[in-house]
Parts: sequence; C-alpha cells; structure tokens
Amino acid sequence: MALTPLDERTRVKADGECSRCNHNALSCSHQNGYMSFEDVDTAGLESPRTTDGMPMLGLGTWENTDPEQCSESVRTALEMGYRHIDTAQAYDNEAAVGDGIERADVDRDDVFLATKIWISNLAYDDVIHTAHESIERLGVEYVDLLYVHWPARTYDPEETLSAFSELYDSGLINAIGVSNFLPEQLETALEACEAPIVANQVELHPLLPQPELREACKRHGVEVVAYSPLARGGVFDQPEINSVADKHGISEPQVSLAWLREKGVTAIPKATGEDHIRDNWASLELELPPEDIETIDGIDARERVVDPDFGPWNQ
Ligand SMILES: NC(=O)c1ccc[n+]([C@@H]2O[C@H](COP(=O)([O-])OP(=O)(O)OC[C@H]3O[C@@H](n4cnc5c(N)ncnc54)[C@H](OP(=O)(O)O)[C@@H]3O)[C@@H](O)[C@H]2O)c1
Repeated sequence: MALTPLDERTRVKADGECSRCNHNALSCSHQNGYMSFEDVDTAGLESPRTTDGMPMLGLGTWENTDPEQCSESVRTALEMGYRHIDTAQAYDNEAAVGDGIERADVDRDDVFLATKIWISNLAYDDVIHTAHESIERLGVEYVDLLYVHWPARTYDPEETLSAFSELYDSGLINAIGVSNFLPEQLETALEACEAPIVANQVELHPLLPQPELREACKRHGVEVVAYSPLARGGVFDQPEINSVADKHGISEPQVSLAWLREKGVTAIPKATGEDHIRDNWASLELELPPEDIETIDGIDARERVVDPDFGPWNQ
C-alpha cells in the first residue's frame, strides 16, 4: 500500500518559508488555507444529505489509533457540525470512536455511525457475532450503516449478506453497505441480499475518478462513498489542483472535497487535529465554477493509493 506523508508539504517549513515556494510563510498566499485554520468560520455549516439521510461529508478514522487522540478527533468533529463518522473493525479504534461520540455534546441519534466487518469475519456466524462485538465496543445500541469491508477471504455473497439482512431485520443496523465492490460484484450482492444495499464505499478522488463505477452505482440507486478522498495526500502534488486552490486561495483538500460533492459523492476525509477537521468542513461553503470542475476532470494522472493484494481488481 503506497502511503504519502503529508505534513511536511502542507505545513510551514522549519525555516519559516512556505512549503510550496520560497516566500515567507506568514505572508505567502499558498498558506492561506493552512496558516489560518482558526480564522475559518465554520459556524452554522451543515452537510447536505443523500436521499437516505446520510450526511455527504463525514470523518474518516483509519490510522487514528491513539485512543485519546481518536476520541478527541471524533468529539471535535461532532461539535463542529460533522454528523457522519466512519470506522471499521480493522481500524482497532471502535471503542475510541464510541468514546468520542459519548463525550460530544451531540445526541447519539443525530450521528450517522458506520462501521465495517473485516474480511476474516464474513462467514454467517462471524458476521452476527462480531457485529454485536463492534456495537458493544462502540457503546451504542445500533449502527446506522454496516459495510462488508472487502469482497475477499471469507466473503460469500449468499452467506455473508443473509447475515447482514438478519442484522438489519433485528434493528441492530439501520442500513447495509458494501465496500471495494466492482460493478459486477455489486450486482451479485444486490441479487443475493434481501435487504437493500444503500452504499458502495470505494477509493475515489481526482486521481481515481472511477466514472464507470459511479455510473453502475447510480443505475442501481446505490450511493457512492469516497474513501481516501484526498488520495492520502496525493492531491497536494497535482498541478491542476494546485492551480484551482491558488486561484481561490483555498486548500487542496477543499478543492478535492468540493469536486467530489459536485459529482454527487459522499466523502469521508480522515483528519486528526482540529485544523484539518475544520479545513475540510469549510469546503461545504465552496462551489467550484464549471471551468474548475473541467480542469480537475481533465487530470490524466491515475493513482490508486489503497491497493492490497486481495483487492478485487488484483484478482
Ligand atoms: N473501505 C475501505 O477499504 C477504506 C480504505 C481506506 C480508507 N477508508 C476510510 O476513508 C477514510 C479517509 O481515507 P484515508 O484516511 O485513507 O485518506 P484521506 O482522507 O485521503 O487522507 C488522510 C490524510 O490527509 C490528511 N489531511 C486531512 N485533512 C487535511 C487538510 N485539510 N490539510 C492537510 N492534510 C489533511 C490527514 O492528516 P491528519 O490525520 O494529520 O489530519 C491524513 O494524513 C479513512 O480514514 C477510512 O475511514 C476506507
């Protein structure tokens, strides 16, 4: 899996210069989005929702594994206005996510909480058993969306999805999602699953726009949730995104998130500290003009940043 460290490029260099040119960071326009996070006014911003009620901008939590920090990220996001939190059994942070929800001054019922069943737990009994464990770790009575994390290892469409349907019927989960499903796998899943499948969570950002997959989801009335919506930092190195960001004095993450919203896609950027959480939230105010959308659509670089051996595109 290729991971890109971000902060050395997004923050001010140690010598006080802008990280993207040689100007003084305090006066350089590149730093507008980065130096003055606390000045960004996000009060009163609300995320739009899908027709099923899923907030279209959420908080990702992969690799936010320090319990204190993870809990604090979740609390900060919820109190800023976020209402969608994404976790997974595999992130090893469900308890911390639950703690952040508990500590936030927001009703649990107002939070859209999603988790995912890992690939070793997709046999019928394991789905039922480990979903209960997840819910217990999260400290809640139900989750809003439960995903099949990957169509891999113990995944079997009939067996796995009948367990998901059972959880749905029992009220323990409010909706079923799949993740990393190719169009044909989505179609098989939709046939196999008695309860509706409302979302397919996939890698999606300006360097991996996935038009065919988006079209397939649309045809079946399945929402697309973009993971790694900042390409885990890849958007910072893309000249077209730099130019749109510079033109409007906004950050590259904001450009990427505004582009995704224009595509009708939900996004769950992972952010740890208040500055990044706020910067991403402030993207809700932005509407990119058509020429900027075209510029980003015209990017021909392609980069998949989450690419394990068991990914269905590697089979
Ligand atoms: N279903 C799946 O298989 C799957 C796979 C991957 C991810 N996901 C989900 O999708 C979420 C997001 O994807 P991701 O974590 O891979 O990558 P991402 O959201 O594309 O990028 C996260 C990185 O961007 C940084 N960042 C966030 N906002 C920023 C800002 N405004 N300015 C500068 N840097 C910023 C974060 O730093 P800080 O942490 O320091 O703020 C972190 O290093 C995950 O957390 C997870 O919930 C799901």
